[in-house]
Amino acid sequence: MIRFTELIHGKGTVSEAIKHKDRPPCDVPSRYLAFAETRRPLVFWNITGLCNLQCSHCYLDAGPLSHGSSELSFGEAKSFIDDLAEMKIPLLMFTGGEPLMRPDFWKLANYAKLKGLKTALSSNGVLLTRDVVKKIRRVGLEYVGVSLDGASEETHNLMRNQPGSFNKSLQALRNCVDAGVKCGVRVTVAKENLHELPKIIDLSLSLGVARLCVYWLVPSGRGRTLYSKKRLDPQEVLDILNVLYRRAKELDSDRMEILTVDAPQDGAYLLNRLKEEDFETYESALRLLELTGDSCSAGERVANVDPAGNVYPCQFAQLGELKLGNVKTESFKEIWNSKDSPILNAFREKTKNLKGRCRVCSYNRLCNGGCRIRAYVESGDLWAEDPLCPYVNSA
Ligand SMILES: C[S@@+](CC[C@H](N)C(=O)[O-])C[C@H]1O[C@@H](n2cnc3c(N)ncnc32)[C@H](O)[C@@H]1O
Ligand code: SF4
Ligand code: SF4
Repeated sequence: MIRFTELIHGKGTVSEAIKHKDRPPCDVPSRYLAFAETRRPLVFWNITGLCNLQCSHCYLDAGPLSHGSSELSFGEAKSFIDDLAEMKIPLLMFTGGEPLMRPDFWKLANYAKLKGLKTALSSNGVLLTRDVVKKIRRVGLEYVGVSLDGASEETHNLMRNQPGSFNKSLQALRNCVDAGVKCGVRVTVAKENLHELPKIIDLSLSLGVARLCVYWLVPSGRGRTLYSKKRLDPQEVLDILNVLYRRAKELDSDRMEILTVDAPQDGAYLLNRLKEEDFETYESALRLLELTGDSCSAGERVANVDPAGNVYPCQFAQLGELKLGNVKTESFKEIWNSKDSPILNAFREKTKNLKGRCRVCSYNRLCNGGCRIRAYVESGDLWAEDPLCPYVNSA
């Protein structure tokens, strides 16, 4: 993830980052997690494939039909949590589907907390009533990300395929802010909603959330079917980056953090802008990016486990050919620490394997070549250049 606000305003952060660099992630405050020792990944766990919405872009292909008996049982889920606790992973992110649809969600969240794990929730907001938010506080989930894919009912409801879902997301965020639960907006940018991004930033500010997280659409799951119609062209990507840069620069960094996910090349964009406009900040941003290794984290700082217990390098990489193992038959720790996995080994040496424009790009050490899944789906080659990157398309 590329933390626009932190990199633009974070001159003082370099010394903090150095302080946390070699400490185990569980001992590092959330704000500095990106600087901590690697190999204990942040785990995105899709605890269910069940969902009360059916968004057209969903990477998990989630919806009202249960994945049934293939989903991890409560006992299997507990063993998996034991394993993560023993590994001392930095954060367990409950996601889905809609995590709150899994009947034993509260038992799982409680158990993870009891085992000493930091936990967070990724939700579509539909079920986040005041009472549910109170429960979230009680079980100690540290952060709630709520999807908001438009600044208007029309756009959000269109992307989320359900009337009324916009107002529910807004209410969910208000409920979290009112209850003092740290929360943020998550927006997935595609053709349908890119024009509303400036208003989504305004709306997020007016709600008082701590974070605005921009996801670039990845051709994964249902998102793959309509990708050619929904994907942004290079100029649209640049227009959005310009908006994010300007707004992050204007913003008081304590008010709201702006960041992007699944496009580490945004760090290259940011460095180029800063180099032209503010050399001192450019130097500190470069140092921070080098320290954090905020490149593609898949297979290193990030792992994904799907509802059936299959392990992948990241949540967008849920493809049979990238499956690393299954926690029903092996422990997560064994899967993750295996020295013999060709997929993990390749993901842990991304820069060496890059091809095309990414191979010769001077930023490749910092960005690791963007998103491998976008490259793979569009070209059939996992190591091809990421077509979303503005530098791939420039002269
Ligand atoms: C899979 S959802 C699960 C949590 C919850 N149901 C929700 O929608 O927030 C997590 C996040 O991934 C985003 N997402 C889903 N499919 C995506 C795709 N193909 N590309 C990029 N982001 C995607 C969603 O918009 C959402 O913000
Ligand atoms: S993106 Fe979230 S809300 Fe939408 S279908 Fe997927 S899991 Fe459900
Ligand atoms: S061309 Fe490739 S390596 Fe260079 S910034 Fe873009 S995605 Fe990263």
